[in-house]
Amino acid sequence: MSDCSKCSAGCGANTLKIEKTLIILKPDAVKKRVVGDIISRFEDEVFLIEKMKMMAIDKELADVHYSEHKQKPFFDQLINYITSGNSVVMVASRPDAIKKARQMMGPTDPTIAKKGTIRGDFGQDITTNVIHGSDSPQSAEKEIQLFFG
Ligand code: PPS
Repeated sequence: MSDCSKCSAGCGANTLKIEKTLIILKPDAVKKRVVGDIISRFEDEVFLIEKMKMMAIDKELADVHYSEHKQKPFFDQLINYITSGNSVVMVASRPDAIKKARQMMGPTDPTIAKKGTIRGDFGQDITTNVIHGSDSPQSAEKEIQLFFG
C-alpha cells in the first residue's frame, strides 16, 4: 500500500507495514564510543528503538547466531571478535526497516564502504565492522527471538 498520510512514522517509505530488525552494535562500536552516534542515526531515520540492552555475547549464543557461517573460513575469527567485549543489541522498527538499516550500514567490508555509511565512517576491516543488521524478515524474527525471547 502506498499512502504516507496514514502512517505516523514520517519516513517517506510509502508503506504502512512497520517492520522490525535486530541490530547489534559490535564490541568495536562500544570501545570506540560511537554507540550514541549510531543510535542517533537510526532515530534520525525515524526508526523506533523498541528494545535495547548491553551484553557480552558468549560463545554459545554467538555460535547459534552465526550458525549459517559455521563452514566459512572466517567463522572462528568472527566468533572471537563478537565475544571480545560488550555489544549493544536492539530491536528497531519502521517501514522497510531491514532494507533501510542495511543501506545505512553499508557493505560488510568497511574498506569499500562509502563515507556517510556506518561502516564507512566507523569500521576498520571486514572483521571489525561495527554493526550487524538482519538480512531478511525471517532472519529478523529468528534473531529477535534468540536475543530477546
Ligand atoms: S557471506 O559469506 O556472504 O555470507 O558473508 P556476509 O553475509 O558478508 O557476512 C556474514 C557475517 O560474517 C562476517 N564476515 C567476516 N568476519 C570475519 N572475517 C571475514 N573475512 C568475514 N567476512 C564476513 C560479516 O561481518 C557478517 O557478520 P554480520 O554480523 O552478520 O554483519
